[in-house]
Amino acid sequence: MSTQTALIVVPPGFVLKEFTSFPSSHRLVVAEKVAKIERKVFPSSENFDYDIELKKKNIGLLLAFKEGEPDNLVAYLVYQRLKRQVWLHKLCVVEVRKGKGLGKFLIHSLNLKMKKGGCQNIQLWLDENRKPARALYASCGFQQLEYRPDYYSPGRPGLRMGLFIG
Ligand SMILES: CC(C)(COP(=O)(O)OP(=O)(O)OC[C@H]1O[C@@H](n2cnc3c(N)ncnc32)[C@H](O)[C@@H]1OP(=O)(O)O)[C@@H](O)C(=O)NCCC(=O)NCCS
Repeated sequence: MSTQTALIVVPPGFVLKEFTSFPSSHRLVVAEKVAKIERKVFPSSENFDYDIELKKKNIGLLLAFKEGEPDNLVAYLVYQRLKRQVWLHKLCVVEVRKGKGLGKFLIHSLNLKMKKGGCQNIQLWLDENRKPARALYASCGFQQLEYRPDYYSPGRPGLRMGLFIG
C-alpha cells in the first residue's frame, strides 16, 4: 500500500481539494454541496450535520471536482483524527463519476496525508450490504475487524474495517 500510495495520481480530468483550502466565505457553499449529495446517497439517520461537524478541529474533508469546473463536486471523503488513529466516516462518488478510480484515489490521498501526520491506522464502519464499497476497501487493503449484526438498525449489520498505515 505504501508504494501504491506514493505513486497515486489524481484520475485524469479531476482535481483534489481540501475543505480548509477554501476561503471561509465559500465554505458554506461547499458544505451545502456535500450535504446535498449525502441526502441522495445515505439514509437520513446517517446524514452528518455539516454545520456542526466541519467546525470541529479534528474533522477533515477531501473533495474532488471536475477539472475546470470549480462548482462541479464529484466525490468527497470525511475523516476524523483521534490521536494516531483516523476514522473514515464518509466516502461518496456521484453516480455519473463512479468507476473512474475516484473512490480509491480519495482513500490513497487520506492514507498519504495521515502517514505524513504520523497516524497508524484508518478505521471505518460499513453497511455489510454496500457491495461496491466492500470491494473498494478490500482492494485498498482494509481487513475486517468486527461484525455487528444490528449496528445500523435491527437486522442491518455493520462491518468494522481497518487499514494499517505502513
Ligand atoms: C463505493 C464508492 C465510493 C466507490 O467509488 P468509485 O470511485 O466508483 O470506485 P473506484 O472507481 O475507485 O473503484 C476502486 C475499486 O473498487 C471496486 N469497486 C468499485 N465499485 C465497484 C462495483 N460497483 N462493483 C465491484 N467492485 C467495485 C473495484 O474493485 C475497484 O478496483 P479496480 O480499480 O481494481 O477495478 C461509490 O460506489 C459510492 O460512492 N457508493 C455509494 C456510497 C458508499 O457506499 N460509500 C461507502 C460507504 S461510506
